[in-house]
Amino acid sequence: MDAGSYTVYMEPGLRHRFASRIASVAAAHRFAIVTDEHVGPHYADALAASLAEHGGVSVHVLPPGEAFKTRDTWAKVTDELLAAGCGRDTTVVALGGGVVGDLAGFVAATFMRGVPVVQCPTTLLAMIDASVGGKTGVDTASGKNLVGAFHEPAAVLADIEVLRTLPVAHRRAGLAEAFKHGIIADAAYLASLDASAGSILAGDASATLDAVARSVKIKAAVVSSDAREHGLRKTLNFGHTLGHAIEHVSGYALLHGECVAIGMVLEARVAERLGVAAEGTSDTIEGILLRAGLPVRPPRDLSSADILAATRLDKKARGGTVEYALPERIGVMAANGHAWSIAVDDAVVRAVLA
Ligand SMILES: NC(=O)c1ccc[n+]([C@@H]2O[C@H](COP(=O)([O-])OP(=O)(O)OC[C@H]3O[C@@H](n4cnc5c(N)ncnc54)[C@H](O)[C@@H]3O)[C@@H](O)[C@H]2O)c1
Ligand SMILES: [Zn+2]
Repeated sequence: MDAGSYTVYMEPGLRHRFASRIASVAAAHRFAIVTDEHVGPHYADALAASLAEHGGVSVHVLPPGEAFKTRDTWAKVTDELLAAGCGRDTTVVALGGGVVGDLAGFVAATFMRGVPVVQCPTTLLAMIDASVGGKTGVDTASGKNLVGAFHEPAAVLADIEVLRTLPVAHRRAGLAEAFKHGIIADAAYLASLDASAGSILAGDASATLDAVARSVKIKAAVVSSDAREHGLRKTLNFGHTLGHAIEHVSGYALLHGECVAIGMVLEARVAERLGVAAEGTSDTIEGILLRAGLPVRPPRDLSSADILAATRLDKKARGGTVEYALPERIGVMAANGHAWSIAVDDAVVRAVLA
């Protein structure tokens, strides 16, 4: 599938052909595979062995999890690349979930002022969302994704067969972003996902491939029309202003997709309070998320004041007021002219969080 200047390949079993595909879209003298401690043992050795037919190979293994999507890890991987003799003629291969994809993408964006990256997503969330669109970056003590760069991949290679080893909690978290795609752009897709969520969680290949294809189609259409997020791309942030705040305040104890689920319900309530969304929109979203086993409320031990304060650190905060991408109804986001986001007073958010 076309995502602007690059192609997203989704073929079951594609991992057996990753190396030749990587070499054809981003030939290089050296290939630096970035992966993590959960993914590497399953898939990195085979990829390294087959890539060795096309150039030098080094493998860089991160500790798993959001807590390591940091500048420290970026510095460590960058130093390892230099020590491995990587120069400008290097292709970075991101083999992992969204954390590896964002981190390795940021390494590629900055190494020697930019080398190609091929995204090989291994979580549902990364296949349907994070690997497409060119956003890369790291978290800081102040908040999520606050340092980063746009750096589009040379290609995205997704093999849904690798999801067999993905724990179900992470599959469920990935579903949250798929639901988001339906809510922002395609009510029929949302309804079909609601019906197939159980099959996807159980590992059904055809239901999973269908969701990956439909989600990527939506995400690719949005990002290829607005790569730098001046307008329409903001709709992809639905659920993320409060979601990122909750993720940050929880100390990353909750998964990204879980926080997005909670954020979507809360932000839909904000939209209803403002009269932007049709009444009942948030209840519909909540019902679907609950049926899929996703959380819909912030954990009780998180303070609403802390969550509200964390929204101010979001990149979507402008001139002191935080901006939200809000739904009008299922499948349609509020355009607000061509802004695709709406400044919301803290009082409204406070009321929803109460
Ligand atoms: N760049 C973007 O546009 C974008 C979009 C959405 C999310 N994100 C980012 O993505 C991140 C979340 O990504 P994620 O949910 O993939 O998390 P993740 O990368 O932490 O992966 C989840 C867990 O699954 C493990 N894992 C991954 N693939 C596996 C496999 N095939 N088998 C067994 N274990 C496997 C990982 O080691 C990790 O423990 C967040 O940092 C979020 O900000 C980025
Ligand atoms: Zn997200």
